[in-house]
Amino acid sequence: MSKQFDVIVIGAGPGGYVAAIRAAQLGLSTACIDDRSNSADQPAPGGTCLNIGCIPSKALLDSSKHFHHLQHQYADHGIKLDSQPSMDISIMQQRKDKVVKQLTGGVSQLLKINKVDFFHGQGTLEAARMVRVKSKDGTEQMLQGKHIILASGSVPIELPGMAFDNEYIIDNAGALALGDVPKRLGVIGAGVIGLELGSVWKRLGAEVTLFEAMDELLAAADLDIAKAAGREFKKQGLDIRLGCKVKSAEIKDNAVTITTTSSKGEEQVVVDRLLVAVGRRANTEGLLGDNTGVKLNDRNQIEVDEHCHTDAENVWAVGDAVRGPMLAHKASEEGIAVAELIAGESGHCNLATIPWVIYTDPEIAWVGKTEQELEQAGVKYKAGSFPFAATGRGLAMGDAAGLVKLIADAETDTLLGAHIIGPGASELIAECVVTMEFSGCAEDLARIVHAHPTLSEAVHEAALHVDKRAIHRAN
Ligand code: FAD
Ligand code: NAI
Repeated sequence: MSKQFDVIVIGAGPGGYVAAIRAAQLGLSTACIDDRSNSADQPAPGGTCLNIGCIPSKALLDSSKHFHHLQHQYADHGIKLDSQPSMDISIMQQRKDKVVKQLTGGVSQLLKINKVDFFHGQGTLEAARMVRVKSKDGTEQMLQGKHIILASGSVPIELPGMAFDNEYIIDNAGALALGDVPKRLGVIGAGVIGLELGSVWKRLGAEVTLFEAMDELLAAADLDIAKAAGREFKKQGLDIRLGCKVKSAEIKDNAVTITTTSSKGEEQVVVDRLLVAVGRRANTEGLLGDNTGVKLNDRNQIEVDEHCHTDAENVWAVGDAVRGPMLAHKASEEGIAVAELIAGESGHCNLATIPWVIYTDPEIAWVGKTEQELEQAGVKYKAGSFPFAATGRGLAMGDAAGLVKLIADAETDTLLGAHIIGPGASELIAECVVTMEFSGCAEDLARIVHAHPTLSEAVHEAALHVDKRAIHRAN
């Protein structure tokens, strides 16, 4: 006899575990299956995000930022060091591992508290919403669900001839676990992972070279922000080579010799470690048995409609495994929406107001449309901006690089996009998301009282500048 559940979730990343908790809160009997183990071979729910993504990368970004500031910024505050600071990489890694353990343990507890039945193993959807769970020891059991939520996430894309060996040619997991600072780190792809993890190891002393196939940096960002980011990264010594493709990589003499092609022709570069960060693809390996009715598209993503429903009755899919941005908060919101739809409530995830944040220094954050996208679509708009260098708080902090740029509809003043590079961008973007979600206007932001002195005054002034009435800059 197979165990019966109202909802079976496959995958316990931010899409899956959040969906499972919400389904259980709504009174549905819920199972959640995840195959990930930690170094002690115990379950490690939380998916890519908690184990080898968002959280460990932010832990290392913070540690390396402290080290960098100690060396390069504290002197401005009058703080003197009698000797050169040094970094104990193993302590930094232990701290990161502790944070990860605390959070994955927390997810296990939350599943338990909410009475979600957790299964540690691989889940495969079979016909008629039967799910085969295969444990590591080879034992198998069958579960049956009235509804299934597929939340199997994503895995890094490998380049031909550059298979991950987790020693020389590494992925995100490898780059988060390095035991020492490589003298020379090569990174293929100057995208989100390349810039965040490249920054970590650069701050800790590596020479970091990023090879980016596109001619522009951060092609998805607003051009003004991308340009400002390029200038800041250059100042930090990140060597970003645009329009540069890596043709091959050969491991020899304890290093990786890379051959690149660009407008300058072919070039050879030798690095000690090579991080390949050229995007991720939906993870569907072992997920689907025969005759499930679930369709994959040509990018291997699970096909879903706007409600995250697949082609098979009562089978849903969320997160990185489906269309849309590969972000933890997007996965979680879809998970909640699907659980609520299953319970007969109204659930919705608005893909148009998903914020993006890149946790470099300065941070980069945006929501909505870029100026270039609006130009292309022929939408008439007005834009306003404000530099952090004109805020009292930014200057007092000694952290005033960057700007806020807001874009509003030329006629209705509705906020269409917000783009920030600067201190606290990851937090400042939230009020712009709220404004957009409520179909608010630049004037709404301009009329709201912002505390002084705060970084949020840059958002306020940018909103005033949309109508050319900013106080602390020329209009
Ligand atoms: P995942 O988190 O990938 O979880 C899926 C889980 O399902 C995994 O544990 C997997 O092992 C398991 N699984 C898969 N198939 C099966 C199966 N058949 N049976 C059982 N279990 C299965 N996003 C942000 O929003 N902010 C960030 O700062 C951020 N930083 C990142 C940094 C890095 C280095 C990386 C790689 C990603 C980062 N992301 C970030 C992206 C974020 O991690 C993903 O968008 C998010 O984890 C997607 O959630 P998910 O639930 O769809 O999938
Ligand atoms: P990405 O899509 O952000 O960047 C990949 C980069 O590699 C692009 O700039 C692309 O032009 C370039 N590229 C592709 N093929 C190439 C080649 N052959 N040679 C040179 N360059 C090449 O993907 P990334 O950085 O791997 O991250 C994957 C996803 O993970 C992100 O898109 C994001 O969804 C998520 N993520 C989110 C983070 C956040 O929210 N802060 C942090 C890290 C990852």
